[in-house]
Amino acid sequence: MTVFDRIESEVCSYARCFPVVFDRAEGSYIYDQQGTAYIDFLSGAGSLNYGHNNPLLREHLLKYITSNGIAHSLDMQTGAKADFLTAFEKNILKPRGLDYVVQFTGPTGTNAIEAALKIARRVKGRSKVVAFTNGFHGVTLGALALTGNRYHRDAAGVSTSDVIHMPYEGYMGDDVDTCAYLDKMLSDESSGVSIPAAVFVECIQGEGGINVASVTWLRNLEKICRKHDVLLVVDDIQAGNGRSGDFFSFELSGIKPDLVTLSKSISGYGLPMALTLIKPELDIWKPGEHSGTFRGNNHAFVTAAAALNEYWKDDTFIKEVRKKGDLMRQSLQAIAARNPAVVSQIRGRGMMCGIVFKHAPDAADICREAFKNGLIIETSGPDDEVVKILSPLTISQEDLMRGIGILETAIEAKQA
Ligand SMILES: Cc1ncc(COP(=O)(O)O)c(C=O)c1O
Repeated sequence: MTVFDRIESEVCSYARCFPVVFDRAEGSYIYDQQGTAYIDFLSGAGSLNYGHNNPLLREHLLKYITSNGIAHSLDMQTGAKADFLTAFEKNILKPRGLDYVVQFTGPTGTNAIEAALKIARRVKGRSKVVAFTNGFHGVTLGALALTGNRYHRDAAGVSTSDVIHMPYEGYMGDDVDTCAYLDKMLSDESSGVSIPAAVFVECIQGEGGINVASVTWLRNLEKICRKHDVLLVVDDIQAGNGRSGDFFSFELSGIKPDLVTLSKSISGYGLPMALTLIKPELDIWKPGEHSGTFRGNNHAFVTAAAALNEYWKDDTFIKEVRKKGDLMRQSLQAIAARNPAVVSQIRGRGMMCGIVFKHAPDAADICREAFKNGLIIETSGPDDEVVKILSPLTISQEDLMRGIGILETAIEAKQA
C-alpha cells in the first residue's frame, strides 16, 4: 500500500485517472518517477499556459528567491507587487482600453468568485445573482451555488441559494434564443424571478464541455444586463490568459464586463494567484472588509510580471496561439470526419478545444488509452462526454500534432 492509499483522502480525483507518481516536468512534458514522458494536454486544468517550469519565468523567480525577496507580505506593498501591477497595466489593461482596479483575493479561482459575488451584491443591494447551466465557478459555498454540476453541488451539505440558473446559449437547442428568455424573465413582473445583482458567465465554458458563447449572444447578454441595471461578471479563470486566442475571452465580442475574475494561468508558472478586476466606480470596499492571509503571493507576482512582459508586450505570442488553435481545430475536424460513428462534434476557440463523443463513456476510455500511450488529457461536460484539450499555449507545433496523433489512434480503435 502506498502512502497515498494509506493517508490521502478519498477526495483526490486526477490521481485516479493518472495513477503514477510524477517527478519532474519541462515545457509540454511531464515525467513520472520511472522516467516515462507524457505530453500534457491538461496543463494543470489551464494553470500552465506557458508550460511547465518555463525557463524565462523560472530565471526571474530563482533570482528573486536567492536575493531574499519577500515571500509573504499579506496585502502590504512590495516591489514584486508593484512590478506585477505595472506589467498588467502596461501590457493588458492599457492596450485594450480597459479601466479596472485589481483586487488580490485568496489564491485560487473560487476566492476571486467569492469576492466578485460579495462586491456585486453590495453594490446593487440585491442578493440574487444569475448563473448559467453547465457553468463551473468553483466549490466554496458562494461559487458552488453558481456552479451547475449536481455532483459538486450535492457535496455542499447545505443549501446553495440566491442563484437563479438560466439556460446558456444552445442549452435549449439551436432554435431557442436563451438571451431572449432571460430578458423575458427579467422584464415580466410576474415571472417569479427577482432582478439579480449580477449575471456570471464564462464566455467559453471549460468544465461544462467547451461550450463557446457566440459574439451575438454575449452582446445581447450585455445589453440585457444594462437594460435591467444588472452587473455583468465574466469568469475568465479558465478561458483567460490567452487560452481563447485573446488575453481575455470577452475581447472578441467587445463587451465590457463590470467585474472579471482571473486565476489559473495568471501567475504564469502554476503558482497560486487570483484576481478580481473591478470597474473603479464599483470599488466600494472598505479597508480589510474582504480579507485573507494569502492575498499576496510574491513569487507568483514575480512570474506573473515576467509572463506579461515576455509574452504580452506585443501580439507575436497571441498570433502564434491563434495559428496553433486553428491547426488544432482543423486536425480535430478531420479526425471527426474520419470517425463519424464515434465523434459527434468538435468545439472550441483559440487553444481550448473539445471532442464530443456520441457515447459518453467513450470519452473516458479515450483518455485512459491516451494515457497508456503518453498523453495526459481529461474529460469535461455534464456527462463527461467531451475530451478537453488544454495543451500549454507554448507547445511546439510538432508536440501538438504528436498529442493529437495519440488521440486519433485511441479514437480509431473505437471506430473499428
Ligand atoms: C471557469 C472557472 N471558474 C472558477 C474555477 C475555480 O477555480 P479554483 O479551482 O482555482 O478554485 C474554475 C476551476 O476549474 C473554473 O474553470
